[in-house]
Amino acid sequence: TLGAAGLGALAGCASLDGPSQDGDTPSITSKTPPADPADYEATVRAASGTVQPGGDLASETWVYNDQFPGPELRAKAGDVVAFELQNELPAETTIHWHGVPVANEMDGVPQVTQQPVAGGESFTYKFRAEPPGTYFYHSHVGLQLDRGLFGPLIIEESDPHVEYDREYTIVLDDYLTREPQPLFGEDSFGSGGMMGTQRPPYAGLLVNGRSAADPAVFDVREGERVRLRFINASSATLFQVQLGGHPMTVSHADGRPVDPVTVDGFQFGSGERYDTILEATNPGTWEIRATPLNGSEPPARAAITYDGVEPSSPVGPSQSNNLLSYGDLRARSPLSGVSGNPDRTFDLSLSPGGPSGQWLIDGQAYPEADPLQIRSGEHVRVRMTNQSPVPHPMHLHGHFFQVGDAVKDTVVVPGHMGQETFDFVADNPGDWLFHCHNLYHLEAGMARVIEYV
Ligand code: C2O
Ligand code: CU
Repeated sequence: TLGAAGLGALAGCASLDGPSQDGDTPSITSKTPPADPADYEATVRAASGTVQPGGDLASETWVYNDQFPGPELRAKAGDVVAFELQNELPAETTIHWHGVPVANEMDGVPQVTQQPVAGGESFTYKFRAEPPGTYFYHSHVGLQLDRGLFGPLIIEESDPHVEYDREYTIVLDDYLTREPQPLFGEDSFGSGGMMGTQRPPYAGLLVNGRSAADPAVFDVREGERVRLRFINASSATLFQVQLGGHPMTVSHADGRPVDPVTVDGFQFGSGERYDTILEATNPGTWEIRATPLNGSEPPARAAITYDGVEPSSPVGPSQSNNLLSYGDLRARSPLSGVSGNPDRTFDLSLSPGGPSGQWLIDGQAYPEADPLQIRSGEHVRVRMTNQSPVPHPMHLHGHFFQVGDAVKDTVVVPGHMGQETFDFVADNPGDWLFHCHNLYHLEAGMARVIEYV
């Protein structure tokens, strides 16, 4: 269980290291977990388990509720949810509710928002499920996400702005059959070069825990509108996703509704989500293909079938040039408070560096790195320049941000001096992690704490 004394000690450290408090009353008070009884409760048990993706990819690893990916947690918007993490691992763990702006103490970041949950202990995460959208949850300790400690989290809207007859959640993953190891250290730069520090060689790329040898199958009926909720739950893979036989209409980005935009495919990094609508007008057996853009494994594949017909050999996507870009995304409800000049701007370089091949944000590696300090109520702008050749999917906890005309929580900054800028309102006081969602970069220092002062 959570030691209140421990948290007090953490908070104490933070204020000792930070600037002295000037006694200003923050204009926005910290969120607290809802006091109401839970509308929806579930147990998430982290333990060892055997994973069988098909082919020769079986492995003994760590999973939630003996499932891989973990169980789909579903709540209705506005529900109070209580998820009890039972830790039966031989290690400490936590759960982070990726994308959901929960109260800080429920965010699941070890040493920042809570003491990690020891083996044999449990911890209940309680929050109000809002806003509606496609999210996921995962361990935020070390490289545990890459073992299999993740699952989808869906918050259902009471009034969907798109109509659909059927929906599927499609979780993409890069899969190891052995224990993940950090890629930085004495000789990782020397041996693998900068690309070598980006991701391990994966045994396979999976859709809903299935390999191409025994693929996931999504059955539809002619004439249906099918909502596909794509989640990039990989630890280090940038995917390009395309469907055989159908265009797709993107309806949500990172859970937030956008004006529908029809494309042949999209690319997304670790931590990003897109919902798309498929109009089932083209009977057949079609392939969902997710090709790694920063790896050489064969694509992740799954099948769409009509009327339960056996997927003999699904037809893949044709060549496509019409891929989604961030500039195509227009949020149905833009963030308020982010127009005009920001109150504070951070100009941050993303680069490799340090004596042992670390990854840096503005020259510093987490956890030693200085926090980025903001004040409650401010309009904050973050500008990132990627001084490395590899993409970085940057994720902000506790807040949505505006990037172009989209509202998101994760944005890929392309390599070779690529830039992205996002704006957010400091409306959720607490200490929040901001980091690269490539787990191997995070583990090698690519994170900062955003601290309200
Ligand atoms: Cu998903 Cu911090 O992460
Ligand atoms: Cu990165």
